[in-house]
Amino acid sequence: MSKNKRLLKPGSRLSHLANMVEPPYTTIWDCCCDHGLLGMSLLRDQYADEVIFVDIVADILASLTARLERSFPQDQYRWQVRCEDINNILVPPEDSQLFIIAGVGPHQTIEFIDNLCASAPDTEFDLLICCVHGSYSVREELIKKGYGLKNEQIIFENNRFYEAIYVSKKIADKPIVNTGSQMWHWPDPVHQDYWHRVVGHYRQKAKSDPTHYQPIIERYKLLRDSITRN
Ligand SMILES: C[S@@+](CC[C@H](N)C(=O)[O-])C[C@H]1O[C@@H](n2cnc3c(N)ncnc32)[C@H](O)[C@@H]1O
Repeated sequence: MSKNKRLLKPGSRLSHLANMVEPPYTTIWDCCCDHGLLGMSLLRDQYADEVIFVDIVADILASLTARLERSFPQDQYRWQVRCEDINNILVPPEDSQLFIIAGVGPHQTIEFIDNLCASAPDTEFDLLICCVHGSYSVREELIKKGYGLKNEQIIFENNRFYEAIYVSKKIADKPIVNTGSQMWHWPDPVHQDYWHRVVGHYRQKAKSDPTHYQPIIERYKLLRDSITRN
């Protein structure tokens, strides 16, 4: 496929995710790939020797396979399409793998991370996560699993906020912070809006479960105080 042919809209969530990836990888897994656009973009730009597209819906994968066969001939590109539940993937004992999990909720994301890690306790792999809401709980899970931060970003698309979190157990010298750290650029009004939305969300939750959610609100307040002081 021509390098100039646009797969991802500039400035879109998926293009931000693609720009965060630091090649080279042996294998990139586009988990919950759906349209497969992110994996295709990374395949075209040779970010990995092989890209594996995984989704649980067979029809989605049939159209994706047809598109890959047309645009990414197997004599030039290495790719696989797998119709599987991410929870059943057995991570192969390979160095240098990236699993991208984007566009699903926090509970599912955490379940995927747990099962991928459990399938290969001795294999280290990087993760690029961009879930819909609830990044706080995902971050807690990544911290528990011993991941460090490579990069993180707040993404705003179609009036929705996302946190992109890129983590590794190898080349990542910064700790992951549950409220996020380097992604916050407080002078940016969009980031202030995001902070208010997150805290508003936890204030709602704290009405029925203050013991759990009030400490989370306090952490976001501490975060704001520390970034506005600097
Ligand atoms: C909203 S799409 C996300 C597409 C793309 N990753 C993105 O961020 O734009 C969610 C996809 O996850 C897939 N999915 C949901 N649960 C899954 C599971 N357990 N295993 C594999 N795929 C799953 C769905 O079939 C759907 O195609």
